Amino acid sequence: MKVKLKIRKFEAKKDTLPSYKTYEVEVPETATLLDCLDKVKWYQDASLTYRRNCKNSICGSCAMNVNGRTILACETHVKHELTVSKRNELIVEPMNNMPVLRDLVVDMAPFWDALQAVEPWLQPDESKVPEKEYLQSKEEVHLLDKVAGCIMCGACFGACNGREAEEKFLGPAALARAWRYTMDSRDARQKDRVALYNEPHGAWDCTHCFFCVEVCPVNVAPMDQILKLRKMAMDAGMTNNPGARHHVGFEKIIEKSGWLDEVKLPVVSLGFNLIGQLSMIPLGVRMFTKGKMPHLIHTPIEKIKEVRDIYQLAREEEKQQRKMLAAAIERKTREKL
Ligand code: SF4
Ligand code: SF4
Ligand code: FES
Repeated sequence: MKVKLKIRKFEAKKDTLPSYKTYEVEVPETATLLDCLDKVKWYQDASLTYRRNCKNSICGSCAMNVNGRTILACETHVKHELTVSKRNELIVEPMNNMPVLRDLVVDMAPFWDALQAVEPWLQPDESKVPEKEYLQSKEEVHLLDKVAGCIMCGACFGACNGREAEEKFLGPAALARAWRYTMDSRDARQKDRVALYNEPHGAWDCTHCFFCVEVCPVNVAPMDQILKLRKMAMDAGMTNNPGARHHVGFEKIIEKSGWLDEVKLPVVSLGFNLIGQLSMIPLGVRMFTKGKMPHLIHTPIEKIKEVRDIYQLAREEEKQQRKMLAAAIERKTREKL
């Protein structure tokens, strides 16, 4: 089959403007995007630059964007991609959220820096060093399996909306790893870690866009791990920050009225922060002049009782889960003794 590729070309060293170049290659119907790029590089344009190594979704080096979606080139079948995108060409670009060095190669330093910031190494209690080695039960190992499978491809980081809005946000892969070390039974710094990840630009900067879950080739589901970190912070009473206040405020407002009070939520989220509150005034004025001002009088919806019943059910379920968890921990402690 013939495949048309429109590839973004750029060379940071030459400081020229990026441009797109179209190539056409003849490949078997089973070809991956990486096969197509190899064909371009070997037979048409040796200057085309991209990363690749294992060709088997293991090394994580070939992450890039195709038709606006972040993927691994070695596991993306071009026939399928052309069918689902309903296009006659593939637009191939480097990942977002990292500076481009050349063509499809980005500088991954921001990704590694974020990872470094979460201290991704074991920090056991040095006063309790075992004689031989640290042992873990099968369950303790399995708990970490999913996140430990991360191949560091950076796809989630490139696709992250939160990172695009705030370049100090640690991003999905680093925070997923943060959860992994927080939950490791050999690590002794769980409380300090939760506090660290609860700081500005940590777990609370995620906007729940789900992109990291969607693009991760090995199902790490970073957003899920971020939500767990948030819950751990809330359970530990670390609630004095805009993210936690937003969470609590959102929950309370919906329980009270069944719909979102868009005037009250930012006020609650910012807390006693006069400068922050004043900074909302221009936004309020802009919304008013564009006819987007939310309702100032906020009354409960007709079926509010049903909403409150859902809350009640969720609370009872959580209580049950906590009881089961406490019983499991107690059982485990007894077994160890
Ligand atoms: S869900 Fe959160 S961490 Fe994941 S991509 Fe979206 S903003 Fe980023
Ligand atoms: S979490 Fe998934 S998408 Fe993100 S770096 Fe790891 S393997 Fe890649
Ligand atoms: S070449 Fe290794 S993951 Fe694609």
